[in-house]
Amino acid sequence: MKLKTIAAACIAMFLYSCGSNAPKTQVSTLKPDTVQVPPRMASPNESTMSPMVAEGKIMYENKCANCHKLFAPTDFSKEEWPSILLRMQVKAKISDEDMAKINNYVYANL
Ligand code: HEC
Repeated sequence: MKLKTIAAACIAMFLYSCGSNAPKTQVSTLKPDTVQVPPRMASPNESTMSPMVAEGKIMYENKCANCHKLFAPTDFSKEEWPSILLRMQVKAKISDEDMAKINNYVYANL
C-alpha cells in the first residue's frame, strides 16, 4: 500500500516536471488577415478637405516651415499670396507640381 503511494507520488512528480519543462508551444491563433488595424483618425479639418488639398496641407507643413515659422494661409490676403508663394517656391526649390498642391491648400483656406 505504502509502496503504491510512493510510486504514485513519483509518477505524479514525473508528470509534473515533464509538464513544467515542456517547451511553451503556444501558437497564436490570430492570422495576419484577421488582425484589425483601426483606421487612422482624420483630424476634423482633414476630413472635409479634398485629397488634393489635404496633400497640399502636408506638403505645406513639411516644406514651408524649414526656414521660418509656419504661416497660416489667413495671415496674408488673396492679393499678397501669389507673389509670396512664387518667391518661396524659388527659395525652397519646390517643383511646379508640388507647388500646385501647396497653392491649392493655401487658396482653399484663405
Ligand atoms: C529656404 C528657406 C525658406 C523656405 C523653405 C520657405 N521660406 Fe518663406 N521665407 C523665407 C525668408 C528668408 C523669408 C523672409 C522674407 C524674404 O527674404 O523674402 C520668408 C518669408 C515668408 C513669408 C512672409 C511674407 C513675406 O513676404 O516675407 C511667408 C508668408 C512665407 N515665407 C511663406 C512660405 C511658404 C508658403 C513656403 C513654402 C512654399 C516657404 N515660405 C518656404 C525663407 C523660406
